[in-house]
Amino acid sequence: MESNMIILYNSKTGFTRKYAQLLAEELGCPALPLGDAPADLSGYAAVAFGSRLHAGTLDGWKKARKLLNSRGAKKLVVFATGAMPNGAGEQIRKVWEQNLTPGELDAVPHFYLQAGLCLEKLGAGDRAMLKVAGWAMGRKKDRTPEDQAFQDAISRSYDISDPKYIRPVADCLRELG
Ligand SMILES: Cc1cc2nc3c(=O)[nH]c(=O)nc-3n(C[C@H](O)[C@H](O)[C@H](O)COP(=O)(O)O)c2cc1C
Repeated sequence: MESNMIILYNSKTGFTRKYAQLLAEELGCPALPLGDAPADLSGYAAVAFGSRLHAGTLDGWKKARKLLNSRGAKKLVVFATGAMPNGAGEQIRKVWEQNLTPGELDAVPHFYLQAGLCLEKLGAGDRAMLKVAGWAMGRKKDRTPEDQAFQDAISRSYDISDPKYIRPVADCLRELG
């Protein structure tokens, strides 16, 4: 069944695109890169925006927020993908606090979906950022097991995504649409 929603996304290595496409299949609606967003979004009952976390920032959200507002998007839902597990509750809570305004924290449903890391598909800038982060962590004194886990996690590719993680986002969109 067609539904009156749209999923917009930014994706560098494909995890967010995959989740956006799964949501679109599940809901019977389009999924498009943010750059291809329709000029008028006012006709959609709900608009979802998904992107990766990038050093604690929801990549492209400031630009997306402006674009979605200026094109008349009404009900918004936001989802982030990242390398940390869904169980990293406190870290995830902080990410949302740092990226959404207090008003958005209340009004915009937001979800974190664990995804993974794909070093092979990253650009040079991203690779360099990870190298620097790993190097800095290696030099840190009194390293905790969490520090070690972080260093290990950014030194290799892995996929901890699963189609089932879209379920809460799909349910929320279904309710709004
Ligand atoms: C430079 C860099 C910084 C990252 N920072 C974070 C982060 O702060 N938190 C997190 O969970 N994942 C982080 N990641 C992992 C990405 O968010 C993750 O791989 C994401 O799912 C990629 O989405 P995409 O495939 O749609 O581009 C980072 C990745 C890179 C390359």
